[in-house]
Amino acid sequence: MMAHLTAFTYVAALITIIVDNSGWPHLFDAFLKTNIQESKECLLGKFPDVCHCKGRRVNCNNKGLLVVPSVSSNVTALELNSNRITSLPPDLFIRYRNLERLHLQNNSIKAISNRAFSGLYKLRKLFLGQNGITKLKAGIFRDLQNLEWLSLLNNSLKHIPRKSFCLEMPRLNWLEMEGNMISTLQGSSLQECTALTVLALRRNQIQSIEEGTFSSMQRLIDLDLSVNRIQEMPPSLFRNLQNLKQLNISNNPMTHIYDDQFDSFVNLQSLGMEDIEIPTISIRMFRSLGNLSHIYFKKFEYCGYSPNVRSCKPNTDGISSFENLLANIILRVFVWVVAFAICFGNVFVICLRSCIPSENRHHTMAIKSLCCADCLMGVYLFFIGAFDVKYYGEYNRHAQMWMESLQCQLIGSLAMLSTEVSVMLLTYMTLEKYLCIVFPFHNYRAGRKQTLFSLVFIWILGFMIAVIPFWDKQTFGNYYGRNGVCFPLHSELMERPGARSYSTGIFLGLNLFAFVMIVFSYTSMFYSVRKTAKTARQSIFDLEVTIAKRFFFIVFTDAMCWIPIFLLRILSLIQVEITGTIILWVVIFILPINSALNPILYTITTSSFQERIKLCLQIKWQQVGLKEIP
Ligand SMILES: *[C@@H]1O[C@H](CO)[C@@H](O)[C@H](O)[C@H]1NC(C)=O
Ligand SMILES: *[C@@H]1O[C@H](CO)[C@@H](O)[C@H](O)[C@H]1NC(C)=O
Ligand SMILES: *[C@@H]1O[C@H](CO)[C@@H](O)[C@H](O)[C@H]1NC(C)=O
Ligand SMILES: *[C@@H]1O[C@H](CO)[C@@H](O)[C@H](O)[C@H]1NC(C)=O
Ligand SMILES: *[C@@H]1O[C@H](CO)[C@@H](O)[C@H](O)[C@H]1NC(C)=O
Repeated sequence: MMAHLTAFTYVAALITIIVDNSGWPHLFDAFLKTNIQESKECLLGKFPDVCHCKGRRVNCNNKGLLVVPSVSSNVTALELNSNRITSLPPDLFIRYRNLERLHLQNNSIKAISNRAFSGLYKLRKLFLGQNGITKLKAGIFRDLQNLEWLSLLNNSLKHIPRKSFCLEMPRLNWLEMEGNMISTLQGSSLQECTALTVLALRRNQIQSIEEGTFSSMQRLIDLDLSVNRIQEMPPSLFRNLQNLKQLNISNNPMTHIYDDQFDSFVNLQSLGMEDIEIPTISIRMFRSLGNLSHIYFKKFEYCGYSPNVRSCKPNTDGISSFENLLANIILRVFVWVVAFAICFGNVFVICLRSCIPSENRHHTMAIKSLCCADCLMGVYLFFIGAFDVKYYGEYNRHAQMWMESLQCQLIGSLAMLSTEVSVMLLTYMTLEKYLCIVFPFHNYRAGRKQTLFSLVFIWILGFMIAVIPFWDKQTFGNYYGRNGVCFPLHSELMERPGARSYSTGIFLGLNLFAFVMIVFSYTSMFYSVRKTAKTARQSIFDLEVTIAKRFFFIVFTDAMCWIPIFLLRILSLIQVEITGTIILWVVIFILPINSALNPILYTITTSSFQERIKLCLQIKWQQVGLKEIP
């Protein structure tokens, strides 16, 4: 059996092992190069004048020949590519007992007699590519017992002959049928092909493959079934292909892949599944593929299911990459800066507000509350940054585990809690101001109890919004863990309908409602302020106006942050593809920058705060001055 392993097999095996560009054309070139050591002088008595002869090889490529010319009978290679030969009559080559290589590519051969190749007992390679061959008659390859290499590239074959090919050509090693019109693969057609190492069936119209079609191909190394119409393959189709190193099933309208479909591929190194949607994907599917180094998917998110490969394409979804949780180097740094700025700023404001007594205690309470909520966003970002560092360089090994982990769920819900409480608090504070300013004489002021109640209510509501997705795995699936940053900002195909409605309800319902309320309140407030400013001049009123002005900036920045998110949500609802890069920027930059800015806008830029600081400094200076005077 080992004798069947030709030079080609070794080359093929070698190249496939080293790199993954081992589509058969590369192997093809490599093999042709190994065979050119024959003599340069012509050793043939007879050959057409237009042709070239070297050793016992004749080259008549591209000479406009209409029929196969007559040459000396001991010719070993005959090249007739790119001529205008239209048919191959019976016994055409019968004299050429020593012929090993016959090239008939790029002619116009339509009809081939079933005895055309008779007598070619020594033929090893036959090239019939780029002709219009529609049918191979039964028994046509009868005498080609030594044929190892057969190319039928770019013809119009509709069937592989029902009776096994390989009964006639037991040593067939390389079968190239790319670019034909084959629609079914019958179990019997390739039954005896035990020596086959490469089978290329790319660009056909294969819809069904019978069970057992590949069952005798224990030596097969490269199988290309890409660009066909295969919807489903029998679960045990690949059972005997233990030696396969490369499989390409890309560009098929596959509807289902079985969990154990790839179980026999212990030696598989490259698996092409481009453009295939795999809703049932699981780690189990690729578990047996211990030697797999390259895998090609439709989407990056599938990469996490084959944690042990060396390379997975596509390499990134914009959020995470094969190597890192955060794909973008700028954002990997920025996540820490933002996290730190948020935490520091908000904690600072909370402290400041606690130390300096304020003119409006309820307002202070609400602001502290807001700072707490914003601070949670910083905590979320710290965790994202920390896990990014933890998985540095080998994220894909952990991707699936990470997204399904409790940590991811928890920090995702933390971010959700933070944004929702922040939005609701801002709305609440705006409405409060609104009532004060628009109805100044009604003397409406929220009491301490009332404020406390509202704040507690908002927090509880925010908490519920954040944890509801945990309740029902059936409806929500893995709600938070759908990308590396654990934040459910955009929909995708694998999202459950329940989860999608929920996100839409939150981001486009609650948040948009809050936003509209805020805008409405501010419009009315400023309208009302302008109207009354000319008449009334009360100190309380002035105070309210300064607060309102300051507040406007906060809400303005908030709106600037939230509008992109509304847009994103709407776009994903109408199923516009949104790149992960945009989502990552929104999650790490736009969403939290709001939390980082709020404390600055609240406290540091306000005039009362500045006055207070000035006052403090003055007192300090006076004290210092007093000490210095003896
Ligand atoms: C075959 O090749 C030999 C040289 O190798 C040559 O002398 C002879 O004429 C050729 N033709 C036939 C029919 O043997
Ligand atoms: C096919 O043959 C024609 C001449 O018959 C030539 O002009 C053309 O370049 C050839 N095509 C290829 C791909 O070799
Ligand atoms: C076969 O056909 C395809 C599509 O028509 C073409 O792209 C390819 O170049 C052809 N192959 C050869 C070797 O001519
Ligand atoms: C798989 O087939 C597709 C379509 O023919 C091709 O684009 C891709 O490069 C192939 N993948 C590999 C790894 O050969
Ligand atoms: C990987 O391939 C080698 C030989 O090619 C084989 O010995 C080994 O068992 C394979 N690994 C696994 C995990 O199957």
